[in-house]
Amino acid sequence: MSNRRTFAIISHPDAGKTTLTEKLLLQGGAIHLAGEVKARGAARRARSDWMKIEQQRGISVTSSVMTFERAFDDLGSVTFNLLDTPGHEDFSEDTYRTLTAVDSAVMVIDAAKGIEPQTRKLFEVCRLRSVPIITFVNKVDREGRPVFELLDEIADMLALDVSPQMYPVGMGGEFAGILDFASGEVVVPEGPSREYHGKRVADFDLPEEIAENVELAQIGYPEFDLEAYRNGDLTPVYFGSALKNFGVTELIEAIARYAPPPRPQPAGEEQVTPDHDEVTGFIFKVQANMDPNHRDRIAFMRQVSGTFKRGMKLTPSGLGKPIAIHSPILFFAQDREIADTAEAGDIIGIPNHGTLRVGDTLSEKDKVRFTGLPNFAPEILRRVQLKDPTKTKQLRKALDDLSEEGVIQVFYPEIGANHIVGVVGQLQLDVLISRLSAEYKVEAALEASPFATARWIKGDDKALAEFESFNRANLARDRDGDLVFMAKSPWDVNYQVEKNPELTFSATKER
Ligand code: G4P
Repeated sequence: MSNRRTFAIISHPDAGKTTLTEKLLLQGGAIHLAGEVKARGAARRARSDWMKIEQQRGISVTSSVMTFERAFDDLGSVTFNLLDTPGHEDFSEDTYRTLTAVDSAVMVIDAAKGIEPQTRKLFEVCRLRSVPIITFVNKVDREGRPVFELLDEIADMLALDVSPQMYPVGMGGEFAGILDFASGEVVVPEGPSREYHGKRVADFDLPEEIAENVELAQIGYPEFDLEAYRNGDLTPVYFGSALKNFGVTELIEAIARYAPPPRPQPAGEEQVTPDHDEVTGFIFKVQANMDPNHRDRIAFMRQVSGTFKRGMKLTPSGLGKPIAIHSPILFFAQDREIADTAEAGDIIGIPNHGTLRVGDTLSEKDKVRFTGLPNFAPEILRRVQLKDPTKTKQLRKALDDLSEEGVIQVFYPEIGANHIVGVVGQLQLDVLISRLSAEYKVEAALEASPFATARWIKGDDKALAEFESFNRANLARDRDGDLVFMAKSPWDVNYQVEKNPELTFSATKER
């Protein structure tokens, strides 16, 4: 079995994702000091203008990739690839797409808050793809909600079987440790209060009331079932405190033991498995270089199969001719390192000048085309108003670039000259305006558009032509030239769907 575990953390802002990430990396031996994740983040953010938005809002717009390793007596060395998903409330397609590149997820829940809106949204995306989920109930060192209430809420709100693997012995002021069902031992706090580590105690005297609850937690909920977990039907639940470094070891161990190794990726009717004999992968994210003077980009490729070696030639599906990958990047938390080899499940950063686009397949033989990497129908549509009309060309170039990166989607109406941009969250619009100005010297404003959402239309030529002739004012082309119906309301979409049974109206577009 592959020793790669490629996963993401999903959570609502403030649940403790950053803190947990730090502790995972720390325990995995990838960084030496807690706090570095944030510090490095802040230093990095200071570099580019548009990233000021991140600072102002105290959030991270861009995702990154962190790799760490850990050795286990029976499993040997396991490599973890942690893909960071932006946790802010206005989330972008970036977040969705990152989830297409992982094999599993850790869902972090604040013990005092339970399931929050963002957790739920991200969970739904995971469910769409049957991504298995391990739950970590965080902040048990603080006053939280009763354990059973939390477990039942996860089960009810997410329609998921929950299988507790631990029980917190008290919370908040009463917090005395965490009973780990697997070992029967209680991990108790030890050391100075803010950074104490756990010590395992075998003969810990459980208070009677807690002992009863522990029994209930074990018999009242489904037993852990690997298959049900891997199918996305059951979630094992761990408790802990990221801040106090509690329950983190158990969580890492659970990811190593249970989380699936790299899975097959759909390519049309076929599935490409990790042991397929050629190197294949797909681009799930493109990030512009932090330096606005250089238009370099890094495309993030999730490797699906084969053993990648530096200098190898791969053909991007969008290009049709091979490119040599001389300076691939593996993203270690400590530093970027030049990768010599990479395996299925790994993420490789490929520097390029715009040749690689989100959704592209890369392969040695140029025969595979991965599917299932959707564009999502935008929920906010705006007209772009240029302040200086002589800059039309620059604007078009910028919009093309930024849509390539997945920052926005761009639509060119069949009638009228104003470009329309579509996003899933408001934040993407702020990023757009800021980057247009900082990187492309294009001053633009956004104004309301009459449209509320968009649907990609498919059908046979005759049906399409007929639809076009009646609805030209509501039609646009996306960046690939594909036809899109711009709808004024969800009602408008339903109406057209009913009226045109020979056409399909799709809220996602697979590339
Ligand atoms: P996020 O990335 O999910 O948004 O959350 P983050 O880790 O930044 O944590 C949000 C706040 O919750 C932080 O406090 C953090 O210290 C705190 N926190 C995280 N894990 C735990 C935990 O296990 N127990 C307790 N008690 N608190 C936890 P802050 O005051 O907003 O930030 P900071 O000043 O501590 O950095």
